[in-house]
Amino acid sequence: MAMATAKLSSPATSLLAGGRTRRSAPARRATVIRAAAGSYSDELVSTAKSVASPGRGILAIDESNATCGKRLSSIGLDNTEPNRQAYRQLLLTTAGLGEYISGAILFEETLYQSTTDGKKFVDCLKDQNIMPGIKVDKGLVPLPGSNNESWCQGLDGLASRCAEYYKQGARFAKWRTVVSIPCGPSALAVKEAAWGLARYAAIAQDNGLVPIVEPEILLDGDHGIERTLEVAEKVWSEVFFYLAENNVLFEGILLKPSMVTPGAEHKEKASPEAIAKYTLTMLRRRVPPAVPGIMFLSGGQSEVEATLNLNAMNQSANPWHVSFSYARALQNSVLKTWQGRPENIEAAQKVLLVRAKANSLAQLGRYTGEGESDEAKKGMFQKGYTY
Ligand code: 13P
Repeated sequence: MAMATAKLSSPATSLLAGGRTRRSAPARRATVIRAAAGSYSDELVSTAKSVASPGRGILAIDESNATCGKRLSSIGLDNTEPNRQAYRQLLLTTAGLGEYISGAILFEETLYQSTTDGKKFVDCLKDQNIMPGIKVDKGLVPLPGSNNESWCQGLDGLASRCAEYYKQGARFAKWRTVVSIPCGPSALAVKEAAWGLARYAAIAQDNGLVPIVEPEILLDGDHGIERTLEVAEKVWSEVFFYLAENNVLFEGILLKPSMVTPGAEHKEKASPEAIAKYTLTMLRRRVPPAVPGIMFLSGGQSEVEATLNLNAMNQSANPWHVSFSYARALQNSVLKTWQGRPENIEAAQKVLLVRAKANSLAQLGRYTGEGESDEAKKGMFQKGYTY
């Protein structure tokens, strides 16, 4: 990988005892600081800043075709390309979306698709100042030698795929791997997750894409919040260890963590204030301030829960932009409103704007939760959920 260099100027003089000075040894070579990302460094930093801009977050619609099929079947639609296109068109052509949404993560099919009028989806996004992003991992498979855990595939050929996606207009990428608390997690699974994320991040940066680093700690389990905190600290410490080892430029990445909550089957629920306290404690202990943005996943929380929790995390200043990158928590009521009917498109787009605005307010710490529908309060957790 190409390395960017920065020079430290060495002082011309050094201090001797008694305050006297003498000239330093002649012509020592300047120290070279190694940083990743080569010729794209400046662009990566500015892309990451634009995604992490005040009052905005990410709309995640990068469901694989199989997962998009699950969304469509929940409203009685077949999983066909025209139906997937119609759904993504509804989302990506919502007027005014760019006020609240700074980036959209797409699946490969959508990156190359156009509206039914022939306008590229990528151009619909650019017109609204929304950065196009792309899911680049190839999904999860069982991890041999582990305790029924999984690992994420997709490193083979990743550099050339990233280069192609960049040409197509993508400016950031996403790689989602998972860690299961009830399965351990084993040291092997955590190390594999962290190493895979770090290799992916270095390759994405080398090809001009800001990597979203997403080790999702699944909600599954009956453990308490303290246990989630312990696992999250372990996972993020390994992730940052390997990111550093791979010379990843921290100013040019974004994180997509799970919030620190009790397991979904735990006897007690935690308040937004408790979730914010634990999550921010974990982040402060593990994430350097050089990282521009933390874009949470919703992980099966209800739309309102995810927004309230984000709002609680923005009640005081953070060293990073703390925002959202939700899929389920931005799409649920939109789908229910749409029902696959052309006459419902406008109403569904209004619902998307309501959700996007609510999360924008939460990013700014100004969401009240008033006037939310019952639908938006329904939890979406599914045991063993896959993307
Ligand atoms: P959820 O918000 O549904 O957990 O999705 C997160 C995700 O990784 C999609 O990109």
